[in-house]
Amino acid sequence: MIEVAGFRRPLRAGLAVGVILALTPAAPALADARAGAAVFKRDCAVCHSARRNEIVVGPSLAGVVGRRAGAAAAFPYSAAMKASGAVWNAESLEAFIAAPRKAIPRTNMASPGVADPGQRRDLVAYLTTLK
Ligand code: HEC
Repeated sequence: MIEVAGFRRPLRAGLAVGVILALTPAAPALADARAGAAVFKRDCAVCHSARRNEIVVGPSLAGVVGRRAGAAAAFPYSAAMKASGAVWNAESLEAFIAAPRKAIPRTNMASPGVADPGQRRDLVAYLTTLK
């Protein structure tokens, strides 16, 4: 049964690594775009489309990463958003979603944002997938 033993050893090593990873409390959670899609659906989709140029209550968030704030065509942004000078990247999106009215006072985005940092990270990972 040498063949079986040879096969089993790496399998056991793999299991051990898996167990160690699962039991390491300090391991930072990786952002999960799929989980972020669910957060988007729950907290954002009522006002934002992920489809290019589709306005719901707010502007489309397709291609939002890399875009200047207030720059989606044909959306009537608040003066505050247009004047914010923000460029949307992971950092600015995080800050905005954490507390929209703190990040951009007088934005007319009527959303409290997302309180949970892990959910925010997932959401931003999802937003970066929207082209
Ligand atoms: C109640 C409706 C509503 C909800 C819910 C909402 N938004 Fe908004 N959002 C808006 C509006 C309206 C604007 C334009 C704000 C302005 O011009 O000041 C906006 C603007 C934005 C912008 C700036 C876009 C640009 O083109 O500059 C981002 C980014 C954004 N929202 C992300 C989100 C995310 C992520 C969520 C979910 C956590 C969310 N929003 C939830 C209505 C909403």
